[in-house]
Amino acid sequence: MEIKVVQADISQFSCDAVIVNLFEGVKSPGGATGAVDQALDGWITKLIQSGEITGKLSETRVTHTHGKIPASRVIVAGLGKPDKFGLEEVRRAAAASLKAARALKAKKVATIVHGAGVGGLDAKAAAQALTEGALLGLYRFKKYKAEAEENGGEIDELNILERNGQKIAAIQEGVRIGKILSDATNLARDMINEPANAMTPTRMAEIAEEAAKANKLEFYVLDKDKMWELGMGALLGVAQGSVEPPRLIVLRYTGADPGKPALGLVGKGITFDSGGISIKPSERMEEMKGDMSGGAAVICAMKAIAQLKPKVNVTGVIPATENLPSGSAIKPGDIVRAMNGKTIEVINTDAEGRLILADGVAYARKIGCSPIVDVATLTGACAVAIGPFYSGVLGTDPALVDLLKRSAEAAGEKVWELPLTEEYQELVKSDVADIKNVGGRYGGAITGAIFIKTFAEDTPWVHVDIAPTFYGDKDEGYLPKGGRGVMVRTFVNLAQRLAEQ
Ligand code: BES
Ligand code: ZN
Ligand code: ZN
Repeated sequence: MEIKVVQADISQFSCDAVIVNLFEGVKSPGGATGAVDQALDGWITKLIQSGEITGKLSETRVTHTHGKIPASRVIVAGLGKPDKFGLEEVRRAAAASLKAARALKAKKVATIVHGAGVGGLDAKAAAQALTEGALLGLYRFKKYKAEAEENGGEIDELNILERNGQKIAAIQEGVRIGKILSDATNLARDMINEPANAMTPTRMAEIAEEAAKANKLEFYVLDKDKMWELGMGALLGVAQGSVEPPRLIVLRYTGADPGKPALGLVGKGITFDSGGISIKPSERMEEMKGDMSGGAAVICAMKAIAQLKPKVNVTGVIPATENLPSGSAIKPGDIVRAMNGKTIEVINTDAEGRLILADGVAYARKIGCSPIVDVATLTGACAVAIGPFYSGVLGTDPALVDLLKRSAEAAGEKVWELPLTEEYQELVKSDVADIKNVGGRYGGAITGAIFIKTFAEDTPWVHVDIAPTFYGDKDEGYLPKGGRGVMVRTFVNLAQRLAEQ
């Protein structure tokens, strides 16, 4: 879908469907909606009076125009209550209305920038949110589906209309940023939705390399031999049960003085988590193709960062492997040594994410990253603790935790902090090694984080557990069923905030 910013009046624009909006409680619309209503002899007002249009957030109502304006149809998008209105509501209204336009098989669509008029939002920010809502909301993964089936085709062209010429430049800039962020998020979704027979560690490395080449990022990858040389016994331990070779992918962006330490983004890249010898139950095991969602978030955030060019250095590190049972697989009771020299007793081979992150985080430290943020579909316990709407956040550096929370808020992603205090350390003590990879029945999201903290050592560090949020059971606004691409936008925002410090 091509997005164009056009200086035009929506009631005079020719296309298959125009999108206007309405706040809940408004009885006679003003602005662009009012102009369209007048041209339609008050038809929208009549539908409001009859209760068919309420303006509730994400409501969409379609009317035909019978030649009264050049567009064939009008879609009225509900913006919800004026006092609850912000950028998140713009994203949701855009997603709902563009999906409605697509369902009508509209090819050429026009919309106003929700919020940039009466809504009182900054035009650039509103245009960015509108673009995000549109592109994220229209996302579908249909690569493996036969062409015709139910898809109904795609919208070819989205025209973003603004009458005031002075706002055009700001809207164009918002659209540019929104497109970069949405495309990166949608790439992460594609990577998550790809089956594990396609999205192997090798394929992840190829995608990272393609992103690097196209956007002037530095790229390299460590293979098994190099991992051995560096002593990455934890990552190698997880990989040893699989035929598919592991990869440790590195992407570097230099936006500031190359001597300055880089923000390290470390993403869990388990391309399939069967649990290994501590095998998982088969129910919903297919979702474990998405156990590389953290790695995908890092690769795609790096891509967007390279395009937006904040003045900061950022390095992405993605340890990637499968976790499978076999005659060569790691076993409960085995002891491995991570690259920082620490030994780990493997109690449960299904707690493999923290093993590969031990080496991923130690490697990020070794190459000078500070601070470090890791992201992982780490624990089912995190979802049990906080439910499906939030990602868990835990860290050793309150200022960094706070910065990450603010980045998430700005990006429209939800995170919730869990405690990370000394007493939990006790729970991961091993009788035979420096640490063990499970912490018992309670506080699983926290003991998982405590484990990784051991490898971040004194480097300021934050851990984001996206096990609750990486995958959706159903479509929700601009979040699709399946892979959701969480944390791409938050990490880009974090890099931008660090650039401003
Ligand atoms: N990848 C899983 C966590 C997970 C579960 C993510 C469900 C998303 C949805 C992780 O590797 C795992 O299996 N964790 C175990 C840890 C336990 C053995 C300490 C878990 O959560 O049960
Ligand atoms: Zn696991
Ligand atoms: Zn896992």
